[in-house]
Amino acid sequence: MIFSNPKRMKQKTPNKESWFNFYAGYSGAFVRDVLVQVMPNNQGRVLDPWNGSGTTTTTAHEQGIDSTGIDINPVMIIVAKAKLLSPGVVESLLPLAEEIIALAKQTKKRIHYTDPLLEWFTPAGALPTRLLADAISKILMPSEAWEKVFLSDHICLVSDLAAFFLVALFRTTRSLVVRFRPTNPTWIKAPESDKCRIRPNPEKVYDEFRLNIREMLAGVAPISGQANTIISLGSSSDLPLAKKSVDAVIASPPYCTRIDYAIATKPELAVLGYSQKRDFDSLRRLMMGGPVVTSLASSTKSGWGENCVNFLKAVETHPSKGSRSYYHKLFLQYYAAMYESLQEINRVLVPDGQCVLVVQDSFYKEVHIDVAKHIGEMARNLGWTLKNRFDFEANLVMARMNPKIKKYRTYSGATESVLWFRKAS
Ligand SMILES: C[S@@+](CC[C@H](N)C(=O)[O-])C[C@H]1O[C@@H](n2cnc3c(N)ncnc32)[C@H](O)[C@@H]1O
Repeated sequence: MIFSNPKRMKQKTPNKESWFNFYAGYSGAFVRDVLVQVMPNNQGRVLDPWNGSGTTTTTAHEQGIDSTGIDINPVMIIVAKAKLLSPGVVESLLPLAEEIIALAKQTKKRIHYTDPLLEWFTPAGALPTRLLADAISKILMPSEAWEKVFLSDHICLVSDLAAFFLVALFRTTRSLVVRFRPTNPTWIKAPESDKCRIRPNPEKVYDEFRLNIREMLAGVAPISGQANTIISLGSSSDLPLAKKSVDAVIASPPYCTRIDYAIATKPELAVLGYSQKRDFDSLRRLMMGGPVVTSLASSTKSGWGENCVNFLKAVETHPSKGSRSYYHKLFLQYYAAMYESLQEINRVLVPDGQCVLVVQDSFYKEVHIDVAKHIGEMARNLGWTLKNRFDFEANLVMARMNPKIKKYRTYSGATESVLWFRKAS
C-alpha cells in the first residue's frame, strides 16, 4: 500500500480545502487513503492533535467516522468547525447571510479604540467587519460565547453554522487587507503609519461577504453516515482526552522552520477580537515550531534519541551568530514539545493503535534537521514500530525565499515523509 502524496493540489472542482488558504494543510485524498488502512471498518475514533484547517476531521466526518481535532489556534478551530456544516442547511445560508447583513447595517455602534482590526483599518473602515462579526454572534451564538470567543469554554459553544459565517468573514477581511501581504504567504505587514490604514466602502465589505458565502457554498459536500466529531482548543502536549480513548492518529505536526502561525492568522485573530498585546503574544508562545523562545526545557532527554541530541549539539556549537544564544534554545524547545506530544499520543492511543504522521525536513545553515529520523527515534523509545515510510519531494518551501541559504548549501528543496507507526500491544 502506498499513500497518495499529502501535498494539496489545486482543485478542479470547488471543495472545502479552498475555504481557507492554509499554507500548512495536507490533502483530503491523503487522509482518505490512510483511513482505509487504519480504520478498515469505519469503527473507532481518529485523533488529529494538530488539526489545523481540519482536513483529518472533515474527511473522517464525511465518511461517517468519529474523530477529535485539537489545535492551539482558535482560528483553526473555527475553520475546522465550519467544515462540518451539514449539506441539509445549504438552502438557508443565503437568506441567513442577508439577515446578518441587515442586522449589521441597522446596528449603531462605534468601534472601540482597542479593537485589533484597527491595526490595518481606520475606525470607520473596521466598523462593517466588526458589525458583521457581532451580527453573526447575535443571530447564531449563545450570548456568552462571543465575548472572548477564543477561550476554550467559549469557542466550544460556536456551532458549525456560526463558524461557516465567521470563515466567510475571515475571507472577506483577508481580501480587504491584501495590500499588507508580502511575498511570504505566512506573513502580514502592519501599515507604515496610521495614515496608511484602509477604509473600505461598507457596501464593498457586505458585497465581498456575500461573494465569499456563494463561493464557499459550492464546496459543501455530502456526508455519509453519522459521525461524532469533536473540535477542541488545546495543546498537543496536554491532550484533553482520556487514556486509551482513540484508535488511530493522523496528523502533521508543525514544521521546524520558524513559521509563525500566529502572525500567519493575525487578521483572522483580529476578527475574533484577539488583542495585540496580551492574547496574541501568549498564543505565539504556546505554538510549536514558531520563532519565539519561551521558558525552556533546560536539557535534552534520553528518550529523544542520539540523532536528535547530536543535531542539537551541532547547532549549539555552530560558529554562526545566534546559534547558541537563540537557535539552539529554539530547537530544544521544539523537540521538547514534540516529545511531550508523542508521549501524550502514546497515552491516549489504544494498544496496537496506529499513528500516521506527515513531517517535513529542513536545514539550519548546512545542518540537516532530519525531523523524520528524530521522530522515528522518539517513537521507537516509546515502544512503537515503524510499519512503513513514504518520502515525497516538497517543492514549495520557505527556504527558497531566503537568498542567503546559498552560502551554506546548494539544495533548497525539502522532503515530506509519511511515517506510519504502530503502538505496542
Ligand atoms: C502543519 S499544521 C497542520 C495542518 C493540518 N494537517 C491541515 O491539513 O490543515 C500544524 C498545526 O499545529 C498547530 N499547533 C501549533 N502548536 C500547537 C500545539 N502546541 N498544540 C496543538 N496545536 C498546535 C498549528 O496551529 C497548526 O494549525
